[in-house]
Amino acid sequence: MVSSDSDLHANRFEQLVQTVADYAIYMLDLEGHVMSWNAGAQRIKGYCADEVIGKHFSIFFTPQDCADGKPAWLLDRALSTGGAQDEGWRLRKDGSLFWALVVLDVIRAPDGKVVGLAKITRDITERREAALQLDEVRAQLCQSQKLEALGQLTGGMAHDFNNLLTIIIGSARLALVSRDPQRTQRLLGHILDAGERGSQMTQQLLSFARYKALKSGRVKVSALIESTRSLLGQALPNAVALQVKLAEDLWDVEVDAGQLQMVLLNLIFNARDAIDGEGVISVHARNCELDGQQDGLAGCFVCISVRDTGRGIDSQVLPRIFEPFFTTKSLGKGTGLGLSQVYGFAKQSNGTVSVSTEAGKGTCMSVYLPVYCAAIGLAPTPEYGGA
Ligand SMILES: Nc1ncnc2c1ncn2[C@@H]1O[C@H](COP(=O)(O)OP(=O)(O)OP(=O)(O)O)[C@@H](O)[C@H]1O
Ligand SMILES: [Mg+2]
Repeated sequence: MVSSDSDLHANRFEQLVQTVADYAIYMLDLEGHVMSWNAGAQRIKGYCADEVIGKHFSIFFTPQDCADGKPAWLLDRALSTGGAQDEGWRLRKDGSLFWALVVLDVIRAPDGKVVGLAKITRDITERREAALQLDEVRAQLCQSQKLEALGQLTGGMAHDFNNLLTIIIGSARLALVSRDPQRTQRLLGHILDAGERGSQMTQQLLSFARYKALKSGRVKVSALIESTRSLLGQALPNAVALQVKLAEDLWDVEVDAGQLQMVLLNLIFNARDAIDGEGVISVHARNCELDGQQDGLAGCFVCISVRDTGRGIDSQVLPRIFEPFFTTKSLGKGTGLGLSQVYGFAKQSNGTVSVSTEAGKGTCMSVYLPVYCAAIGLAPTPEYGGA
C-alpha cells in the first residue's frame, strides 16, 4: 500500500515535470549525457526525446563555448559544489540561438551518492532584449538630459571664456609693446593662468558631456559639489546667490558620480527657476543616521539638500512633481524630467528624496544617499522598514 502510494506520487510528479512547457527540465548522468526530457525542453530546444536522450549536453552549447570547455566546466562545478548557474547563448536544434538561464543541481540517492544532475533551463531571450532596450532608452534619456544641461551651462561659460579671452588678448598686447622684461614676464604669467583656467573649463565640460554607462562607485560628495559649483559658472543670474555649506568629515557615498552631478544640476536649475528676481540657493551636505524616518530607510546616509528662497510649490502641484513629464513651465522651458531623474536616481541608489516647501517662502529638496560602507568602517546595509 505504502509503495503504491509513493509510486502514485512519483508518477504524478513525473507527469508534472513532463508537462511543464515554460522550463526545460531534464536529467544528466555524471558525464553529462541527457537521461530524460520534458515538454518544455522540446519546446525550447526543438529536439524530441528520441533525438536527444543519450546525447551529450554539449550539443546545446555554441561551438565557441565548446571550444572554451564551458560544458565540462559547468559539469565539474556542479559536481564539486552541489550546483551551478549560468546565463548565456544556447543552440536550438535548428541552429538558432536563445539566451538561456541555466541551473544545475546534483541529485543524490538516499545513501547520499550522487546519481545525476537536474538541469533546468529557461529561455529568457525576450526578457534580456527588453532589459537591454530599457537600458538603452535610459542611457538615451540620460544623454539628452545631459545635453540640455550642457546647453544651459555653456551659455554661462561663454561669458567666462570671454572674460578669459579679454585677459589673454589685453595682456598679450601689453607684452608686445613692453620694454620692461619683468613686466613682460608678469603679463605672460597672466596669459598662462587665463589659458590654463580656460582649458580646465573645457575639460570639465567635456567630462560632463562624455557618455558614460551608469556605474556606482565611491564618490566624494564635497569634491563633486565643488566641481558642480565651478561648472555652474555664470549659469545662474547675478541676482541669485549660490551658497555651499558642507559638514566636516562627510562620508563618501556609493553612487554613479555622473548621475549625482545631474541630480545637483536639476535641483539647482529648479531652484533658479523658482526665484523671481533676487534670491538665494543653498546647497548643504551632512552625514545622517536614519532609523526609518525617511521612507523607512535605516542606516548611515549622506543628505544633500538644495534649498531656495523661491515661490514654493503649490499644494495641488506637490503630489505630481516627481511624475515624468510633469511640468508647470511653459512650452520649451521645461520637459518635466528633472525631478523624475532625481527620484529615479535616489531610488536606484537605495536612497530617497524628500521635499518640504512653503508657498512664497521657498523649497528644500533633500536627497539621501547610502554611504560607501568601507568609508565608516561598518556595513550599514540600507534596510527598508515598514511595509
Ligand atoms: N524648487 C522648486 N520650487 C518650485 N517649484 C518646483 C521646484 N522644483 C520643482 N518644482 C515644480 O516641479 C515641476 C517639475 O519639476 P521637474 O524638474 O521635474 O521639471 P521641470 O523643471 O518643469 O522641467 P525640466 O527639469 O525637465 O527642465 C516644475 O515644473 C515645478 O512646477
Ligand atoms: Mg527641472
